[in-house]
Amino acid sequence: MHRINRRDFLRYSGFAGFSLLTGGIGAILEGCTIHSTKTPKSFVTPLIVPDTAGPLALYKPDSETFKIEAGTAKLKIVNEKESLLNVYKIKHQEKTLINPTILVQKGQELRVTLENGLSEDTIIHWHGLMVEDKMDGHPAYAIKPGERYEYKFKVKNRGGTYWYHPHPENLTAKQAYKGLAGILLVEDEEELQLRQSLELELGKNDIPLVIQDKRFDQAGNILYNPDDMEKIMGFHGNKVLVNLTLNPLLKVAKKFYRFRILNGSNARIYCLSLHSEQRRDFIPIYLIGTDGGLLDKPYKINKFFISPGERADILVDFTSFNTGEELFFKSLAFDPMDNEDAENMDNMGMQHDSLKAGEEINILKIVINRETEKTFKIPQNLSSLKPINIKDSLTRKFRLSFTGKQWQINGQTFNISQFPVIVKKHSKEIWEIANDKKSMPHPMHLHGFMFQVLQRLNSPKQVQDLAIDQSGRTAMDLGWKDTVLIWPGETVRIAIDFTHDFTGDQVYLFHCHNLEHEDLGMMLNLKVKE
Ligand code: C2O
Ligand code: CU
Ligand code: CU
Repeated sequence: MHRINRRDFLRYSGFAGFSLLTGGIGAILEGCTIHSTKTPKSFVTPLIVPDTAGPLALYKPDSETFKIEAGTAKLKIVNEKESLLNVYKIKHQEKTLINPTILVQKGQELRVTLENGLSEDTIIHWHGLMVEDKMDGHPAYAIKPGERYEYKFKVKNRGGTYWYHPHPENLTAKQAYKGLAGILLVEDEEELQLRQSLELELGKNDIPLVIQDKRFDQAGNILYNPDDMEKIMGFHGNKVLVNLTLNPLLKVAKKFYRFRILNGSNARIYCLSLHSEQRRDFIPIYLIGTDGGLLDKPYKINKFFISPGERADILVDFTSFNTGEELFFKSLAFDPMDNEDAENMDNMGMQHDSLKAGEEINILKIVINRETEKTFKIPQNLSSLKPINIKDSLTRKFRLSFTGKQWQINGQTFNISQFPVIVKKHSKEIWEIANDKKSMPHPMHLHGFMFQVLQRLNSPKQVQDLAIDQSGRTAMDLGWKDTVLIWPGETVRIAIDFTHDFTGDQVYLFHCHNLEHEDLGMMLNLKVKE
């Protein structure tokens, strides 16, 4: 179990936000707890939701090729100032869709032309989609400014919340931070059934929430200037946006709402929960899906960790609240376990005006503002999930460690022409990923395949507290995953089925989704051999 020692105390107390932590040091020990029930008045900006144009606009591609441009756009985010962002743009019926929410059917064939309107190399990676390597956005396929890349692939994934973002070597963190990221929703039968049974409507009561922390300069532009220490720790912003909205407010009716949450931050981990100032208590959250779509049934939880790259599909029942009642999505204070034992980690992040890792943050204000006539029951069966048959499977071990300069996987960093992990197509493997004690949390992500989390071992107390079964798994570990958070000292075992029907060897990636870590080389090629 993790304990706060004197050094940590000094470190924490040096943080600007320490006075907010009214519970003091004892409360930090708890991990993932609420300290301040006071909520700010500043949350008045209407939350941007998918509409017909603008940020996150809904786009349903047909069978034709559509063009997506990586370019720039100006958006008013901070104090009416125009922020220059890097964004994905689709022109559709005279309108410009920015970082569109792309809605596709399972089985649909997608044809996309990426046009690089940036001043540096880029490539799109479809995070979570099982596509052949040429379509996966491996940095080897990055294109130069002005060039185009043609994607053509079939969507084989289950219904669920996926996303797309850049993946050029050494430039992923910067480009994603400057705004390049969008949601891709896959629909299938089970997904539609759920939507029907609760009358969920995209953009109305079925809302993606893309949570991203960013830093802005005086002019309102996004600042991405990590120093050496921030490259090692990951770059944290000083403002948290939801759907590119600062201090967002959402007015809801008294019914079920679905939120499809993506942690699209470069490095920040959130411990999300929902609170009412009046009730001074957690409001139940029903976790119904994770990275790769729906779970078998809803899981009622109070709070959950979500790390960069992960998705959480949740339902909240607002029926029993009073009109006028105010709720807050918060990230609770927790121990970020940022390598506190490593000597050279002292003073990390203290020189900057940023929200510290693990600090309590208000994310989204929700106001109940209208009645509804109909009432609904939450369905008890959502899907059926088949465990991967791991009988006689090989166990492959990975160790996450720090050299004093950079993060490594099995003592290695990324080399685009080396293939340190070679697996056999159609084989099933168990991966045992162990994070050093002198480390920090790493959200480990696999391209090309979804996996299942089998077990968590030696978890810190704040993770053990969230365990829902004997294997130490939390609700967020259930279902099909492509990203799993591994805490210092912890070992996580996952099962992967390397079955696919692409011909020829395929090259994917296994990497940390702390994007500064990825760019520093905490990434390995994975070759799937015929
Ligand atoms: Cu979302 Cu290789 O990453
Ligand atoms: Cu990915
Ligand atoms: Cu990492």
